[in-house]
Amino acid sequence: MDKSLGRQWQTSQVAHSFSRAAAAYDSVAVLQRQTGDELLDRLALLKNTPKTVLDLGAGTGRQTAMLAARYPKSHIIALDIATAMVQHARMQHKQSLGLSRHLPKNKRTSYLSADAESLPMADNSVDLVYANLCLQWCDPRRCFNEIQRILRPGGALMFTTLGPDTLTELRQAWSAVDNYPHVNQFIDMHDIGEAMAAAGLAQPVLDTDHYTLTYDKAHSLMQDLKTLGARNIHVDRRRGLTGRQAFAKLAVAYEPFRKETVLPATYEVIYGHAWCGETHQQRGEAGMVSIPISQVQGRKG
Ligand SMILES: C[S@@+](CC[C@H](N)C(=O)[O-])C[C@H]1O[C@@H](n2cnc3c(N)ncnc32)[C@H](O)[C@@H]1O
Repeated sequence: MDKSLGRQWQTSQVAHSFSRAAAAYDSVAVLQRQTGDELLDRLALLKNTPKTVLDLGAGTGRQTAMLAARYPKSHIIALDIATAMVQHARMQHKQSLGLSRHLPKNKRTSYLSADAESLPMADNSVDLVYANLCLQWCDPRRCFNEIQRILRPGGALMFTTLGPDTLTELRQAWSAVDNYPHVNQFIDMHDIGEAMAAAGLAQPVLDTDHYTLTYDKAHSLMQDLKTLGARNIHVDRRRGLTGRQAFAKLAVAYEPFRKETVLPATYEVIYGHAWCGETHQQRGEAGMVSIPISQVQGRKG
């Protein structure tokens, strides 16, 4: 597998950046809402109600709440590496429930601050992993290995992530200013598919969709990315504050993309799903398939 699939930043920086964004994130998370809603619609693919659902990279918990509403009898787990995001999600949930949280019909929603690349969950313990716009911040190989490990047989992964066309205008505009990386490199659909297959996930299906957000000026886009927590944390980024001059040059370099009165910001969103592949237990040490005794049906002679 291509080494370049790995992250170009530290997970501690991701956690820090998104924690700082927790309070204002929802005010600018337009794309996240749209892809999250589309991903929720795609849950219609699942035939059975999942008992345990993991919202991976749950952020402020908007999708977690929608998953809880969709599966009221399921145990929903909201997990995020940014502790302040997890706290925010828990608080929002508490407020939305009011006193009804004390009633028995409300299944528990759990909140965990943890890394998607090293999940604090038992093997074969989750029926649905739902991940809206989280995986582009992770090493997909590690995440898919972990997801395959925790999925129960019959369980599913449903996710969105960002592809290489994302923020292409911003990337090009910055390249006219300096040679530092300002926009993350995003992994293409084929490499994502390969990483899923390598992790042992079964029947991976992927497709892409393009979304365009529009801005009056380049500065507004930069401001929104900052508010979202999507800061430039690339290991090779220019250290120190980027000066006024650089931002002024960026604004000029972005102008040729203006269409009519607005500046576009393109996002390539990859939608994917897969099923739990054959588990290690099923495969056995020597490649033999072993079947739990509970699943063996007796034959009447
Ligand atoms: C763009 S936000 C999406 C949040 C939410 N899913 C939504 O739809 O609004 C990405 C989230 O992924 C989280 N994240 C990034 N890397 C992570 C990792 N390695 N493990 C867990 N969460 C991670 C971030 O902290 C952030 O809250």
